[in-house]
Amino acid sequence: MSPRIVLIGPMGVGKSTVGRLLAERLGVGYRDTDDDIVTAENRTVADIFVDDGEAAFRAIEKRAVRTALTEHEGVLALGGGSVLDADTRALLASRQVVYLSMEVEEAVRRTGLGAARPLLAVNPRKQWRELMQARRHLYEEVATAVVPTDGRTPEEVTEAVLDAL
Ligand code: S3P
Repeated sequence: MSPRIVLIGPMGVGKSTVGRLLAERLGVGYRDTDDDIVTAENRTVADIFVDDGEAAFRAIEKRAVRTALTEHEGVLALGGGSVLDADTRALLASRQVVYLSMEVEEAVRRTGLGAARPLLAVNPRKQWRELMQARRHLYEEVATAVVPTDGRTPEEVTEAVLDAL
């Protein structure tokens, strides 16, 4: 069993909202690796970052992604940084992977000051620019389809994903 569709892209791009809508439209289940991690660890992602650091979070995330890719048949949304891991990118190679993209200004607008997002706590606009620069090519590397989300509602993005499949 494996997910029919994997959603990747930066935090705040709408992976969870679009993922749920998509799963509903396709009549399949929805799963999110961030939720899996929170359930398994019984603490928030922000707490894991603060208590144990980003490297520890990435190790937990890597295991969660591998498990979800094996177990789940349906729509699976991955945390925005999961593509940083080369083994994870290799696992995605044989899948239908949709990259939900957005421009930096849209990201800043959507995530605001980012207080709840550990990677955006200091200077959101600068941090967004750096994040996008470092990750855009990784998303593109594993994506079988790219769906821009700027100025689109979750419903419109869902339609665009369905068109792109
Ligand atoms: C992260 C994205 C978050 C979460 C963590 C780190 C990232 O997931 O995993 O805060 O590195 O981009 P979402 O993309 O689901 O918000």
